[in-house]
Amino acid sequence: MSVENCKLIELPKIADQRGNLTFIEADRHVPFGIERIYYLYDIPEGAERGAHAHKALHQLIVAIAGSFDVVLNDGTQRRRFSLDSPDKGLYVCPMMWRELDNFSGGAVCMVLASAKYDEDDYFRDYEEFLCAAKGSK
Ligand code: TYD
Repeated sequence: MSVENCKLIELPKIADQRGNLTFIEADRHVPFGIERIYYLYDIPEGAERGAHAHKALHQLIVAIAGSFDVVLNDGTQRRRFSLDSPDKGLYVCPMMWRELDNFSGGAVCMVLASAKYDEDDYFRDYEEFLCAAKGSK
């Protein structure tokens, strides 16, 4: 898995004088079936989240409010993505070490995920992740 497989996805936006509406459909706007949604909010200034990778999980990360950065690292290459709009999502494929930082005040990070929560799907140790990532290349 390469960081090149991860990309920003433009989500539909229906705008009228009452405001904007964005929607996300499984297998249409995201390349996986959606099994879980979670969100991070009330994030204190200077906080960093993530610092783990998933073995098999696919995710779409959306800045529903405010902004933040996501740094993706496939064990060889790193890329920083800035998310600052609810009509833009970052697709994250499996085996990507991710770090989230640079949260603005009031930021809300919504994540759509391809499976239910499973601690066994996590690499929380960076060296362990690196070994597995290099072994699979
Ligand atoms: P964690 O994945 O470490 O948070 P983040 O990557 O956003 O920094 O999760 C923090 C805690 O929440 C951890 O104890 C696991 C738990 N958790 C769930 O119970 N269900 C979930 O869907 C998620 C994402 C986390």
